[in-house]
Amino acid sequence: MHFPIVRPRRLRRTESIRRMVRETRVTRDNLILPAFVVPGEGVAEEIGSMPGFFRFSVDRLVEEAREARDLGLPAMLLFGIPESKDPLGSGAYAADGIVQRAMRRLKETVPEMLLFGDVCMCEYTSHGHCGELVDGEVANDRTLELLARAAVSQARAGADLVAPSDMMDGRVGAIRSALDDAGFEQVPIMSYAAKYASGFYGPFREAAESTPSTGDRRGYQMDPANLREALKEVALDVSEGADILMVKPAMPYLDVIARVREAFELPVAAYHVSGEYSMLKAAARNGWLDEKRCVLESITAIRRAGADMIITYYAKDLARWL
Ligand code: PBG
Repeated sequence: MHFPIVRPRRLRRTESIRRMVRETRVTRDNLILPAFVVPGEGVAEEIGSMPGFFRFSVDRLVEEAREARDLGLPAMLLFGIPESKDPLGSGAYAADGIVQRAMRRLKETVPEMLLFGDVCMCEYTSHGHCGELVDGEVANDRTLELLARAAVSQARAGADLVAPSDMMDGRVGAIRSALDDAGFEQVPIMSYAAKYASGFYGPFREAAESTPSTGDRRGYQMDPANLREALKEVALDVSEGADILMVKPAMPYLDVIARVREAFELPVAAYHVSGEYSMLKAAARNGWLDEKRCVLESITAIRRAGADMIITYYAKDLARWL
């Protein structure tokens, strides 16, 4: 059957009919708002390369969480910037570390907010790499122990889920058994399963002060050219006990999201990263793009590719627009 019998435009004529046949929907239910927490009080610093996005001290983060809750957002993903950094990133697993303090306060004040803790060393190490350095290289197996400690200390502080973003081999298994040994067998792991060595993390590194002082992350994060390798990474994380699989970044990797969605049964998350936010923001501020329209289109595309949940710096705006 073909034209003139088939006329696809029939189903596009009015918004009512378009609404009826729409295949993909974006809702607040599966958006996750990232947040950067810094030491001090009364701090709300706008991030230079992420206009409209702030770093908050714990007291101001509570206000941010209340606002997010009132907008109908269910979840936040926390990143910490500690008062001091050292080679072993001890701030990541200190019982009174910045993220641990923030989680405790948020659980007291906004208990319904679901808290994801980003588990990585790079915001906490003096050299900015995602693990312990031995002879200039990130030592995989020694780093596993630090990551496991960080995950357990976050769970103790009230994290509802932990999200390892370091890309060490074996980290999901190491974190799973450490959580279980500490009595946190109910805390799920959302693994950054296919995380690429991406230029789009640039603004985040300004926000988190986590640019490596030497070298880059290509020795542990994935080569942007590889898709089959993403499936291998994801399969490993599934076998080690991951509960949710994440692909990161999002827009340049829609093919990866789609393949992971097809090949695995677990929920899939996508991280619409800082550089994706900054590009849209910059163009919008220059009057070159319609911000609301382009953000909604981007997030819809990420959902259409197969992401069940999306981490995005636009979560609050989306909640207002939806
Ligand atoms: C920590 C981490 C990074 C991001 C999330 N967790 C930075 C990196 O790997 O360099 C990036 C998030 C973003 O750009 O929005 N390893």
